[in-house]
Amino acid sequence: MKTRLIFVVISLVLSVLIGLSLARQGAGDARPERSGKVRIGLSLDTLKEARWQADRDMFVRRASELGAKVQVLSANGDDTVQIGDVEKLITSGVNVLVIVPHDGTAMAKAVRLAHDAGIPVIAYDRIIRDSDLDLYVSFDNVRVGELQARFVADHLPQQKPARIVRIYGAKTDNNASQFKAGQDSVIDPLVKSGAVSVVHEDWAEDWKPENAKRIVNAAITAKGPRIDAVLASNDGTAGGAVQALSEEGLAGKVLVTGQDADLVALQRIATGTQAMSIYKPLHTLAQGAAELAVKMATGKPVVARHTVNNGAIDVPAVLFDVVTVTSANIDATVVKDGLYRHEDIFR
Ligand code: GAL
Repeated sequence: MKTRLIFVVISLVLSVLIGLSLARQGAGDARPERSGKVRIGLSLDTLKEARWQADRDMFVRRASELGAKVQVLSANGDDTVQIGDVEKLITSGVNVLVIVPHDGTAMAKAVRLAHDAGIPVIAYDRIIRDSDLDLYVSFDNVRVGELQARFVADHLPQQKPARIVRIYGAKTDNNASQFKAGQDSVIDPLVKSGAVSVVHEDWAEDWKPENAKRIVNAAITAKGPRIDAVLASNDGTAGGAVQALSEEGLAGKVLVTGQDADLVALQRIATGTQAMSIYKPLHTLAQGAAELAVKMATGKPVVARHTVNNGAIDVPAVLFDVVTVTSANIDATVVKDGLYRHEDIFR
């Protein structure tokens, strides 16, 4: 009697496990053939900013170390091209898709296409909205904004209210809203208390430096040259802001924030035309995402300690921490991590 019971239980468990794997195969299981290499599709928005080239290289290097093959396609900021790239990667038989969306909403379609083919999707750095995304891997973007605004708050001039210009990122990028939310949590109370006045604010389409330059030009035309700080959301837009300020002889006299610790931004920090940036240790994100992609492709469990709501679901998320970088800690952060040499920054 007892042996028969054990036999029934074992066959039941086995059938559930097989059932689960078959269910996945029913929807076109993209797991690598037992003998095959893991194949990862990496779909990028752009390679315009220095950081994305670094992300790509570090991701591909780590994935190759893990025995995986990565196909990389960059859409150059075009949503139609990016959907086409995803279709190409699906057709070419990738086991998992890793996507940096240009437009977080437009790429919901990519998640549907991938799931129809049984392929899991990881959103890299920027979330994909309104879809049952499998995993989101990024930095703590709200904290990025908090640290940027905190820096401005800690360096306000005596004269009140301090007059600041705010440059947000691309509206298509969910990160830009998260950076803004973090900044708002510090700036809004200061505006209420009268310590700060936001004299001009706008979104820099596609994160383009020239759009950021136009925003600061417009601010100076509309409100005059007395600006105490430009709260710029990344180094690219900070560069555009510094260009506009230098046209007015204000570069180095107005506090400018940034993000990404780009080399040119670090050089601006070294010479004093930019006050700070946010260092996001890209190797943690790129290597972490490559490891998670290989795990997902081979059906291994993934540990995600956070969730981020994308408008449809609470997406399991892995979020890495960030650091404020100024001329005081450049050596202890980006130089120590081997990103750049001291002499490349402090020329
Ligand atoms: C954001 C990213 C930033 C920034 C920007 C422009 O999504 O988190 O690091 O550089 O895109 O590419």
